[in-house]
Amino acid sequence: MLTDTLPSNFMPSPARGRVLVFDSGVGGLTVAEEIRALGPALGIHYSADSGFFPYGDKSDEALRDRLPKVARRLVEYVRPDVFVIACNTASTLALPDVRAVLDIPVVGTVPAIKPAAQLTRTGTVGLLATPGTIRRAYTAELIDTFARDIQVIMHGSIELVKLAEAHARGEDLPVEAFAAAQAPLFEAPGGDRIDTIVLACTHFPLVRAQLVASAPQPVSYIDSGAAIARQTIRVLPPDTEGRGLGGHAWLTSPPEEAPDLALVLRRYGFPDIQSVADVPIEMTSAPTAL
Ligand code: DGL
Repeated sequence: MLTDTLPSNFMPSPARGRVLVFDSGVGGLTVAEEIRALGPALGIHYSADSGFFPYGDKSDEALRDRLPKVARRLVEYVRPDVFVIACNTASTLALPDVRAVLDIPVVGTVPAIKPAAQLTRTGTVGLLATPGTIRRAYTAELIDTFARDIQVIMHGSIELVKLAEAHARGEDLPVEAFAAAQAPLFEAPGGDRIDTIVLACTHFPLVRAQLVASAPQPVSYIDSGAAIARQTIRVLPPDTEGRGLGGHAWLTSPPEEAPDLALVLRRYGFPDIQSVADVPIEMTSAPTAL
C-alpha cells in the first residue's frame, strides 16, 4: 500500500526490537504500515481500545483518565521497547500523562501542520481531524507556532472516522459520502483556496484515494505516518536485538464482540488477536520494571 509513496532512494532500517502501536480502532494500522516499511525487522504489535471507540467524541476528562491506565495495562502484557500512540485525538491531549506512567520511550502522533504550512502555495490549509483534536489547545499552539501566516480551516468529523472503519472492513461506499464529509472545509470562507489538507486522524489515510477523488479542487493530503516511523526507530533503545516477533493484536474488549475489527486486523497482518479485557483496567501499583 505504501510502496507507491516511498521515495526511490528509500533504505529500510535494520533496527530490531518490539514496538507496540496503539489506537482507538483501526486508524493506527496506517502508522503500523509505515513503521513496518521503514523497519521490516521490528516486531510490531498492535493494540486497539475497542472497548472505548471512538475517541473523537469522548470528553477530555474521560480520555485523560483512561489513557494512562490502558497504556500501562498493554505495556505490562506486551512488554514493548517503544509505545507508539498512533492517534492524534489521544496524543494531543494525554501524551504527557501516558509518558508519566511508562518507563519506555513513548512516541505520539500530532497533526502535520508544520509540513503543510511549508507545502502550501496558496497559503490556505485544511485540517481534517476528530472534533476532539480540533478543539485541543495543543492544536492551536501548533498552528500558532508553525502556521501563523497561513489560513488554517478546520473541520472535525466523526462521520469520516466511521467511513474509514467501514472502508477498512471492505464495505463499498459511495464517493458522495466522502465529498459530504470534507465539504465543510471547502465551503468555509476561503475554502476555495485550500491546496493542502492535513489528515490529522490516523484513520483518514485509509480513505485518502476517496478524499482525493471527491475533492472539488486539486489538493495534497498529508499525514504524520512517515515521521512517526522515523521517530520510532530513532528512540528505540540500543539493546533490543532479537526482540522481534510481532503480529499480535491486543484489544480492550473481547475479540468476539469486535468481529469487524478482528477481520481488518488479520487483513493487515495481525493474525493473533487477544484481549486484555478480562483484567480490569485500573492503576494499582508502580509501573512494572521492564
Ligand atoms: N485514529 C484516531 C486519531 O488519530 C481517532 C479515531 C477515533 O475517534 O477514535 O485521532
